[in-house]
Formats: sequence, C-alpha cells, structure tokens
Amino acid sequence: MLNHLYTRYSLATRGSGRGWLLVGFTVAAFVGFLSSAPVARAQDSTIRAVQNIFDPLSAPAETLYQVSLLVMVVCAVIFLIVGGLLTYAIIRYRRRGPEDDQEEPPQVYGSAAIELAWTVPPILIVVMLVLVTARTIGEIEHHQMPAAAEEIRVIGHRFWWEIRYPKHDVVTANEIHVPLSSRTNRVPTEMVLESADVIHGFWVPQLNGKTMLVPNYRNTMWVEPYATGIYLGNCTVLCGQQHANMLIRVIVDKPDVYQKWLESQKQAPASDPQTQEGQKQFITNSCGTCHTIQGTRANGTFAPDLTHFASRATLGSGVAPNDEQNLRSWLKDPQILKPGCLMPDMQLSDNQINAILAYLRTLK
Ligand code: CUA
Repeated sequence: MLNHLYTRYSLATRGSGRGWLLVGFTVAAFVGFLSSAPVARAQDSTIRAVQNIFDPLSAPAETLYQVSLLVMVVCAVIFLIVGGLLTYAIIRYRRRGPEDDQEEPPQVYGSAAIELAWTVPPILIVVMLVLVTARTIGEIEHHQMPAAAEEIRVIGHRFWWEIRYPKHDVVTANEIHVPLSSRTNRVPTEMVLESADVIHGFWVPQLNGKTMLVPNYRNTMWVEPYATGIYLGNCTVLCGQQHANMLIRVIVDKPDVYQKWLESQKQAPASDPQTQEGQKQFITNSCGTCHTIQGTRANGTFAPDLTHFASRATLGSGVAPNDEQNLRSWLKDPQILKPGCLMPDMQLSDNQINAILAYLRTLK
C-alpha cells in the first residue's frame, strides 16, 4: 500500500500543477482508507446483489446448488446425445440431388429392442432425479436445528416485511440481521414465515430457495450464511401494486457485531428534548395507530415498527435510501416514492414534517 503510494508520489512530483493534484488525491485516498478501517471491523457493508443460485453462500443454498448441477449435467448429456444423433441424421441422410436414389429408408416397426431402448432409460433417469430431489428436500426441511440456532419470525405485509426475534423481544422491519455461521461452529437461523394479508414469497437466492408466506399457515425455512455482507432478495409472488418494491435485505454479521446489534435494538430510543415537538406531532397526527415506537404511546401494528427506524439503511422496504431527502418526500406523501403503498398522504404541513423528520432521525 505505502509502496504504491510512494510510486504515485514520485510520478506526481515530476509533473507540475497536475502533480500536486495527484498528491492531493493520494493523501485524500490514504486518509479515507485510514478512517474507513474501523467501520470495516463493524458491519460488513458488501452488497451481495448478484441474485445467483450458482453462487451459494449458505448451507441449504449449497445443497440446492449441488442438485441443480446434477440435473443440469444429466440434461446436458441427454441434449448432446439427442442433438448429436439428429445432426448426424440430417447430414448423413440429406437429399443428394440428381444422384439421390429417391428410395425410402428401411421402415422399422414394432421392434421390441428399440421400443425398450427409448422408454426404459428415460424412466430410470426421471426416477433417479425424483429420488435425489426428494432426498434433498427432506434433508433441508427436516434439518435438526442446534440449540444455538437463532429464530426469526418473518411476517409478510403489503408491501413490507415484519421481522421479530422472539428469543430477544426485538421487532424490526425489512432489514433482517442474522449471525454468521462457519463450517466448524454452525449457527443456523430458523425462519418462521407467515402472512398478514395475501400470499407473498421470500427469496434470497444466495441463502436458500423460495418459500411462500401463506395467510393462516406457518412455513419454516432456515439459512446458514458463510460470508458477511448485505444479501438482497425480493418478494416472489405478485401481491399487489408495489410487489416489486417489497425488497429484502439480509445483513449477515459476525457473532459479536450481531450481539451488539441485538443489544442496541433492545434499548428504548434515546429521548431527545429537542425533538419533543416531533414526537408530539407523531402522536397527535395518529401515526401511532399504525406504527409502534417503544417508550411512547405509538403502538400500532399495521405498519413497520419505527423504534429504531434511523438505524435502518433504507425506507419503504428498500424503495429508497433512508436519508433526509427521501424521508421528507415520504412524510410529504408516501405515494410519491411508493405509489399504491398502504400509507396515505397525511396532509402534514411543512412545520409538522420538519418536526416529525427531526424526531424520526433520532430513533437510532
Ligand atoms: Cu409481497 Cu409480492
């Protein structure tokens, strides 16, 4: 790193004004590197946006990947045999112009050997694939959870995800923190999936296959990630106008970072006297009939829990970064960022928006 910097410095000093510019950039880059180092030791903000089943980073996703490889190899071999024979027949028995004898090839009918050859092997191949797939599904579904396993309840709503940690009494939304596992010290996370309204689908391809969230029914699945970072996923069942913006972020933390996150989520948010007005506006404008903020009278369950809203990176279930500009737009009218979402335009005045915005930004 330093060596590299010196090379750039000596190159830079040979030039004139442009040289000093390069030195400036180099120093700025170095300062940036130093200041970003402690952050890297906290949460890993690598975005794992490649939604790719061929790049699994979790135990059940790996098992699914192996089966998919087997199926693809079997299908590729069949394709090569059928395609090869077809190509051979097309070339070998093509029409040969004037010297073609115009005769039909021998007509084979009722040959038991040929009939058996093209029915028995395909049946055996299908039976083999069915057995392997059934065994894999069984292995994933009936996986024994160790006592150290984390438990999460995911409840699908139009158009957001309610996330509950029953062991820790923590409630959040849309951004799911789970602990990192390793092949030696396994810490899987079991997810119970339910729905509050219509059918939704939960899919983070690098962690596990798709699972439906069905009203009045409990599905379970589990993930066991081997790499930290932010995994992106989607709702996979058309559930309404904002189905495409029902985004999932699974944040995989190292065990100590995860414990710290849980601790911070258990605390009531600090009440800042400067934002009392915002809290008052939040309650009097009946935001609390839908949203919950621990330690206040807001205890609604129809919309995301906002107790630690400012600790989340996105708003509106991933529709936009959770920054001041987007939050202001959301408070002005949620239908601008997320048309068709179930939060109405509350007709707030600019003063009310400013007060509530300042309050929400303190909910770390
Ligand atoms: Cu929820 Cu699509």
